Amino acid sequence: MPEDTYKQLKDGNRKFVELTNLHNPEFFSSLSETQKPKALWIGCADSRVPANQITGTLPGEVFVHRNIANVVVHTDLNCLSVLEYAVNVLEVKLVVVCGHYGCGGVAASLSNKSHGMIDNWLNHIKDVRRLHRDELEAIEDEDERLRRLVELNVIEQVNNLCATSIIQESWQKRKLPYVHGWVYDISNGILKDVAEKVTSQHGISDIYRFEPKAKSVKP
Ligand code: CO
Repeated sequence: MPEDTYKQLKDGNRKFVELTNLHNPEFFSSLSETQKPKALWIGCADSRVPANQITGTLPGEVFVHRNIANVVVHTDLNCLSVLEYAVNVLEVKLVVVCGHYGCGGVAASLSNKSHGMIDNWLNHIKDVRRLHRDELEAIEDEDERLRRLVELNVIEQVNNLCATSIIQESWQKRKLPYVHGWVYDISNGILKDVAEKVTSQHGISDIYRFEPKAKSVKP
């Protein structure tokens, strides 16, 4: 019943406020002044993968962008705006792309079924599938193939992230942020590293490496 869900969420909020005030009476007043998150999280919209809970962090500690199947699309203004703000204004030190095993978006991209408009979004994961076609088709077990595509998707989205001008200009200026790729295992709650941390342009394909921008010269 929708009314029950409404009540559950509002009651939950009331309890959250009461408990937080009990344990830390300054919590809301100090957070209301500013935010200084240490990390940007780019994750799947899946309800089982909430960034704060699974990393044991509190409101204010992680800046979050989520979409279906944690995709970083070069022309996605939403994702790029979050990235730009996190890197250049909040100056986060770490950016994480986090996928998860059992991802419905990744599973759908392994089939040829039509799901409607979302097929166009999932085509970004089909691009990953095409790039790693031989490796994926050599895996006979369907669950294993899905797990591997979840990992490869994270690795490729980390590559996409590092290909952005935002990340590369930040590396040139302040040698940060670190970029990591993780996969969350819903069955045991553990985060696994799948993409090596990248901290400079040397870690990415030369095809995507931008030279530092030339300083503007006045006529
Ligand atoms: Co998912």
